[in-house]
Amino acid sequence: MLDIRAIRRQFPALQEEYNGKPAVFFDNPGGTQVHGNVIRAMVDYLTRRNANTHSGFETSLRTDAVIAQAHQAVADLLGCDADEVVFGNNMTSLTFHLSRSLAREFRAGDEIVLTRLDHDANVMPWALAAEERGATVQWVDIDLETGTLDMSDFRRKITSRTKLVAVGYASNALGTINDVAKVVGWAREAGAYSFIDAVQYAPHGLIDVRALDCDFLACSAYKFFGPHAGHLYGKREHLSRLQAYRVRPAGEELPGKWETGTQNHEAMAGVTAAIDYLAGLGVTYGTAHQDNTRREQLRAAWPVIQEHEERLMARLLGGLQAISGVRVYGLTERADWKRRVATVAVRKTGTTPQQLAMALAAENIFAYNGNFYALSVSERMGVEQSGGFLRLGLAHYNTEDEIDHCLAVLDRA
Ligand SMILES: Cc1ncc(COP(=O)(O)O)c(C=O)c1O
Repeated sequence: MLDIRAIRRQFPALQEEYNGKPAVFFDNPGGTQVHGNVIRAMVDYLTRRNANTHSGFETSLRTDAVIAQAHQAVADLLGCDADEVVFGNNMTSLTFHLSRSLAREFRAGDEIVLTRLDHDANVMPWALAAEERGATVQWVDIDLETGTLDMSDFRRKITSRTKLVAVGYASNALGTINDVAKVVGWAREAGAYSFIDAVQYAPHGLIDVRALDCDFLACSAYKFFGPHAGHLYGKREHLSRLQAYRVRPAGEELPGKWETGTQNHEAMAGVTAAIDYLAGLGVTYGTAHQDNTRREQLRAAWPVIQEHEERLMARLLGGLQAISGVRVYGLTERADWKRRVATVAVRKTGTTPQQLAMALAAENIFAYNGNFYALSVSERMGVEQSGGFLRLGLAHYNTEDEIDHCLAVLDRA
């Protein structure tokens, strides 16, 4: 079991006062707070290792090492090899970048399959690429009762005409975890590429791209306690074969072929520290040992993180359902908690999501309202015109006391 007090002490932002008192961070799906080791690693990079790459002098050698370590750390996080990891600004930019290369293979009459549950970063890069190439978009709908994807619709939409299937691992609005393994299997059978947006799943569970056998997967470190940087996994065969848009004299070697321009080296140092922190949880609180590989340590970390998050989810969902006028969107039954992360979308009769967020903000409880770029979710649920949702997004450093505080404010609102 996680020692949350000890863990919270490791996050400088959680020790700060905001307007004279501590804050409750329920804005985690928008970005998590950063572990102290991440901040120290970034400062250390900028202090002692700052340079450009590939030269024989000391800071440049150190920078090359930072870059190599960061690729290996993300490879351990995702279960792949270091040369299959591409760094970039964020998931959105990486996805636009890749879409340009994949689109070269799209032809008129081809189809791509997108979902109404996805964040727009896993929609527009593909929809625009399809439009440019004369390909058609097939949309997979949401079951409005449960906030889950309509899987029979999904199965039907993937055909021999499909060139790409893009699906989110977990919804950033409703918290639904999608059966991405099944979708990847359907895509593979149809001879289509599979692309998984794992941005919202990454802070909550183990990702294993080999087991999934997906072609591509993207996530962002600022959602898992690290700095603002994104990562794209691509199967080596694809990253090697596809044409990357790059400048001369960037060569063919991976992953440099895909990493355009000078990278954010200090963020790379921070990403390694964030992943090391998560792996350390597997040693301190899980079944892993110091001499296990980082991947093994990460594998041991997620069950203890999930155990705590499920306890939080029980408190939050139970409490919300007990407040008169509150509606929780998406999966709420205990039996379904393995199919969702602790990202909860709500509305309350007689108030707007913005009013709820402002009432929380007045108490230093930080939470977002709106559609969170999951525009189709908000539209399909019929709430876009009236302000979308209030989103309460938990991370493993949150506590039951924080939830009780939030519930009391929502009850009064
Ligand atoms: C599910 C999901 N996908 C994609 C993104 C975009 O990520 P980035 O900010 O790294 O571009 C977000 C950001 O909130 C997200 O929640």
